[in-house]
Amino acid sequence: MRVARVVPHSFRNLADAAIDLGPGLTVLHGPNGAGKTNVLEALFFALTGRSCRTRREREMIAFGGELARVEALLEPDDGEHADPIAMLASISSGEARRRLVDGSPAQPSDDHRRPAISIFMPDRLALVKGPPSPRRAHLDRLAGALWPARAELPREYSRALAQRNNLLARVKRGGSPESLGAWDRELAERAVPLTEARAAAATELAEPYARAGEELGLAGGAEIAYRPRTAELDADGIVAELAERREGDVARGFTGFGPHRDEVELSFGGRSLRRYGSQGQQRLGLLALLFAEREALRAARRQLPLLLLDDVMSELDPERRSRLVAMLEDGGQALITATEIDHVPSRDAAALAIAAGVASPTGAGG
Ligand SMILES: Nc1ncnc2c1ncn2[C@@H]1O[C@H](COP(=O)(O)OP(=O)(O)OP(=O)(O)O)[C@@H](O)[C@H]1O
Ligand SMILES: [Mg+2]
Repeated sequence: MRVARVVPHSFRNLADAAIDLGPGLTVLHGPNGAGKTNVLEALFFALTGRSCRTRREREMIAFGGELARVEALLEPDDGEHADPIAMLASISSGEARRRLVDGSPAQPSDDHRRPAISIFMPDRLALVKGPPSPRRAHLDRLAGALWPARAELPREYSRALAQRNNLLARVKRGGSPESLGAWDRELAERAVPLTEARAAAATELAEPYARAGEELGLAGGAEIAYRPRTAELDADGIVAELAERREGDVARGFTGFGPHRDEVELSFGGRSLRRYGSQGQQRLGLLALLFAEREALRAARRQLPLLLLDDVMSELDPERRSRLVAMLEDGGQALITATEIDHVPSRDAAALAIAAGVASPTGAGG
């Protein structure tokens, strides 16, 4: 499915107007503060019921307004047999969020009816620059998208981990360590499939990540490597490791060993992107990751995610901008924002000028 139209209402600075989108690349251009990022956020909100910018979702309600609402109309892609779908999300100052799909309250299964969304926003660079936990979560979400049967593994592991940590804290305060053995076993049994899912997802990404890195001009070759903390890959081995470290865990009051300490390393030319990448290189690394995931999803599910790219062109040189545009023109629906249309050197892209919260078509891109 692809998004044919977005209709924001009282959503940040966006006026009450329909924005029509083509099937390929659309450039949203306009000055700072025009409303470009708001359009991406509005679309994300309509499809997911969440914001891609903030946890304080009432911020999306237009100043002085009561209720923000966005509707997105989804249409089947060429050759796809499906009925159009209307997805609507709203949030008001008094009430909780609401999501409707074709007029009825959204069900969890509706998330499979919309395209997956891949999003680049400057603050998502934390994924490349920051600590490992968002990288793990990101890999876990990909594994869940590739293999829905694995989607619950991270939650199941976290539950077992929380239980064991509770117990450790109790033992530290003088409680009985009796049931620790059972929780070691439980945790180990949750750790094994999670580690396997991460390894499998990283394997799926390895080749397309290297290819995307090269296409984008990331110097020295891009590599992704999953580095599990658990060298032991079976439950018995992990149980033994946990037993060996139990004393330290009790002293600390939490579990210091296991997949919640795994690293997912991104590198270029054999060096850590996190430590040694320039601003532009880190951007390219994140973009390569998004493209690699797109490839993996295309192979596994025969569908391309919707790409939302905010402010991605700043800090890229003209050569790399062209490379990125060529990859975007290669297929799938994508929205990209830029302060100047010339920053997106595309012949085929549709362009929308955004000014003071109003979008108007400007014909072919620059
Ligand atoms: N709740 C709100 N109600 C009304 N306006 C808002 C609200 N939240 C933010 N804005 C305003 O919306 C305007 C557009 O914001 P947006 O982030 O979309 O700009 P942009 O076009 O992406 O600019 P830039 O190029 O600087 O990233 C800003 O002036 C911002 O202050
Ligand atoms: Mg912006």
